[in-house]
Amino acid sequence: MTAQLNPRGDVAVLVPAAGAGVRLGPGRPKALRLLAGEPLLVHAVRRLAAAPSVHTIVVAAPATEVTAVRELLAAVAPVTVVPGGAERQASVAAALAAVPAGPEIILVHDAARALTPPELVESVAAAVRGGRDAVIPVLPVVDTIKEVGAGEVVLGTVDRSALRAVQTPQGFRRSVLTAAHAAAGDPLTDDAGLVEKQGVTVGCVPGSEYALKITRPFDLALAEHLLAAAE
Ligand code: C5P
Repeated sequence: MTAQLNPRGDVAVLVPAAGAGVRLGPGRPKALRLLAGEPLLVHAVRRLAAAPSVHTIVVAAPATEVTAVRELLAAVAPVTVVPGGAERQASVAAALAAVPAGPEIILVHDAARALTPPELVESVAAAVRGGRDAVIPVLPVVDTIKEVGAGEVVLGTVDRSALRAVQTPQGFRRSVLTAAHAAAGDPLTDDAGLVEKQGVTVGCVPGSEYALKITRPFDLALAEHLLAAAE
């Protein structure tokens, strides 16, 4: 039996949370690292569950932590927890396989983007509901971007006006994501990349600074400050 949030919602959110988090330094799997005393995954799931369109949340946990994650999240929201895979893409596929019949919009959201506001979840879902097959939240790139070759020598300067930094949640019509995963070859770091390979048009909506990906110790410190400032 899959746990449900809003039975009238039309969105299932897949949360790949099975990564080790090597770039954060030694310690527990990244989704279980603490931010203001609570695991990143708890922060992420709490915000997803606060989005009114969300019907189902499926978390892909590290295989050794499935029971612990189930217990941890029981107090936060009704969530289904499955074992993740060796690559992010395998974790997403495992979570996708656990989505019950019903939701026709699937969002894929990194547990590491723990402070993502429920409003961003709604805006991505709304763009899919409005007719897009695939939607990603993006921010403009603020730094100048250079292409660098062997020996750390600059090869050229990229025109940043056409560049965007991509966040999650990424949203998909269910049939589109299912087909893309069925056809998937080499693992990619995001799901929009998979559907692009299928020739599907991917739309953009404005992202949020709060949806930053907590990857390095600096990001964790920044997220602590953002939380403290919001309180
Ligand atoms: O490693 P990276 O930061 O790109 O991971 C993005 C998200 O994918 C994280 O939430 C991480 O837990 C998840 N992931 C996963 N299974 C893996 C590797 C990463 O669920 N094997």
